[in-house]
Formats: sequence, structure tokens, C-alpha cells
Amino acid sequence: MPTTVLVTGGAGFIGSHTCVELLENGYEVVVVDDHSNSSPVALERVAKTAGRPIAAAYRADLRDRGALDSVFAAHRIDSVIHFAAKKAVGESVGMPVAYYDVNVGGTTSLLSAMHAHGVRHLVFSSSCSVYGNADKVPLTEQDPPAPTNPYASTKWMCEQVLADTCRHLPELRVLALRYFNPVGAHPSGLLGEDPRGVPNNVMPYLAQVAVGRRERLSVFGDDYPTPDGTGIRDYIHVMDVAEGHRRALERLNDESGLRVLNLGTGVGSSVLELVSAFEQASGRPIPYEVTGRRAGDVAELVADPGAVKEAWNWAATRDLSAMCRDAWRFQELNPAGYGG
Ligand code: UD1
Repeated sequence: MPTTVLVTGGAGFIGSHTCVELLENGYEVVVVDDHSNSSPVALERVAKTAGRPIAAAYRADLRDRGALDSVFAAHRIDSVIHFAAKKAVGESVGMPVAYYDVNVGGTTSLLSAMHAHGVRHLVFSSSCSVYGNADKVPLTEQDPPAPTNPYASTKWMCEQVLADTCRHLPELRVLALRYFNPVGAHPSGLLGEDPRGVPNNVMPYLAQVAVGRRERLSVFGDDYPTPDGTGIRDYIHVMDVAEGHRRALERLNDESGLRVLNLGTGVGSSVLELVSAFEQASGRPIPYEVTGRRAGDVAELVADPGAVKEAWNWAATRDLSAMCRDAWRFQELNPAGYGG
């Protein structure tokens, strides 16, 4: 019997790429997504990319326990990968309660449905933002969490809920992956990042400038204590993130309780380095202007990827030029995203 994985938020950016990775490796995939920030078209593209369909897709909010119960009753779910969440840092500052409600409430509802249906394996989407203003890089999993915005707080809170639940339900096996900055797209150009409205994140913004949908990139500050003054992040190819989730599923059997792992490359790139890599990948100039710092931004966030390497004998392999090339291919082939 193939392993059946329930993927929440499976139509989203990381979710859709992970669904392809799972289908290509023989897993059965069931998706629950409310499409509040994703398109059902992404799921058609998943099937096309993988050459086989997902087992089922449900449009539902995770806080709807009744809907979740019907999904668990209809499929013999072996493991869950939980992506579904709100993820815009700026928005979270303006609507903190909605972030707690969706992100924490969605997670407890899912945990309770898993418990009711005897499902014990979970991979949880966490974020490097739990580290907050790091005073040194690279960051290891032992560095103390210090979230600086409601989004990051919800992720840290979910990790705590998971840790405590695991203490009391020892049969649970949970891996929480703290992603650094996932970017890029599937190399086919069929799947990629298609944010609604004006992109919050730098890579989709750059891609929309290159394709002519936006005039210029605003570089948020060039007075950080970094070599060129712009913010440094650990960008990781979404295909590596997807692969990481398959590894996590394979390794859950060896775990007990909750384990937290960074998912990054260990390589930091500045905003200006990213602009230049994107210009090279796209062959187009990227107009930009330096504006003031964005509230809540930190100078530098880079992962120490050592723990994942040791635990799984695995590391991300795709570099910044592959990230830019694939992001650009998706944007060029889908100038209006999935809606085009
Ligand atoms: C943030 C969160 C991260 C979350 C991710 C996705 C933090 C510390 N990080 O990443 O946890 O998963 O969003 O929502 O809260 N920049 C520009 N111009 C732009 C946009 C961004 O110069 O138009 C710069 C930023 O100042 C930063 C870098 O580009 O230095 C990356 O920004 P962004 O892509 O928004 O990601 P983070 O803020 O690092």
C-alpha cells in the first residue's frame, strides 16, 4: 500500500512543489486548502508536472473540524504535512488576532482531528522568523526564539503546542522545519510563486519588475551593517524545500516527540546580490531605488544547516542562479500568474 499524505495548504507556493515531489516518489496525496491565498489551478499544474493526479482535493478551512473529520474518514491518512497558514509579516502586525486564529487555531484543530483518527506523523511548517533579531549568524536550532511580530509568534506558539502535545502523547512524531527564505520555482515553468496583489517578498517582486508588471524594486535600506549595506538572507530553492519535506517524511519513523530543524543553505545573499543574479538570469535590467528600511526587518538571517545534514545526510544543492533562473522562467511563461 502506498503511503497517503494529507497536505494542508497543498495549492500554495511550497505546498504545490511538495505535492509534485511526493507524487513523483510514489506517495498518494490528499490536499486540503481554503484557497484564501492560492489558486486551484496550481493543483491542475501539480498533476500535469508529476504526470499523475493527486488522490483528492478538498476546499476547506482547517478550523472546520467537521470538514476535517470527513477528510480523515474518507482516506487512510498515514502522515500529515501542514503548510496552511497566513504568512505575511506586515499584515500580521495589523491583524494579530486573525493570525492567532488561523495559524494556531488551524493547527490545534488539525492535531485534534489527527488524534481522533489515530494519525501520528506530522511535518510542520515553521519559520526562521522565530529567531527574531539575531545577534549572530549562522543560526542554530539552539539559538533562543525571540519573535518580533505576530506571524513569527504564531509559528513559535505552534512549536510550543506541538512540543507540549508530544510530551503528553508520546506516540506522536513531529518534525518542525524552520524555513529560511524559500524562492524559485519548478524548473518546468509550470509551478511557481503567485502572490495575490502586490508581492510582500523580494523575489516575486523582482520577477514582476523584470516582466514589466511593476516599475522598479524598492530596496528597503542600504545602511545595514552588511558589506553592501542591504539586508542579507538565506535564500533556498523551493525544490530543495520540497525535497526536504520528503526526507522529513522518510525520517519520521526514527523520531520520537518533536524535533525542530532549520531548512536553509548556510549561504547569505544581499538584496543587491539578488538583483544582480536576477538580471543575469533574466537578461533584463532591474530598475531599483533605495528607500528607507522596512519596519521589523533585520540585517542578516542565515541558517546553520548542520543539524539537517547530520540527521538526514542531506543538504540543499541549488544555488542563487538556479533560484533566479527558475523564478524567471515561471514569471516569463505565466506573466499574470495562474490567473493568466
Ligand atoms: C519574511 C519572514 C519569513 C517569512 C517570509 C515569507 C522575517 C524575519 N522573515 O522574510 O519568516 O517566511 O517573510 O512571508 O520576518 N526587500 C526589499 N524590497 C522588497 C521586499 C524585500 O528590499 O520589495 C528586502 C527585505 O528588506 C529583506 C529581503 O529583501 O532584506 C528579503 O525580504 P522578504 O523577501 O520580504 O523576506 P523576509 O522579510 O526575509
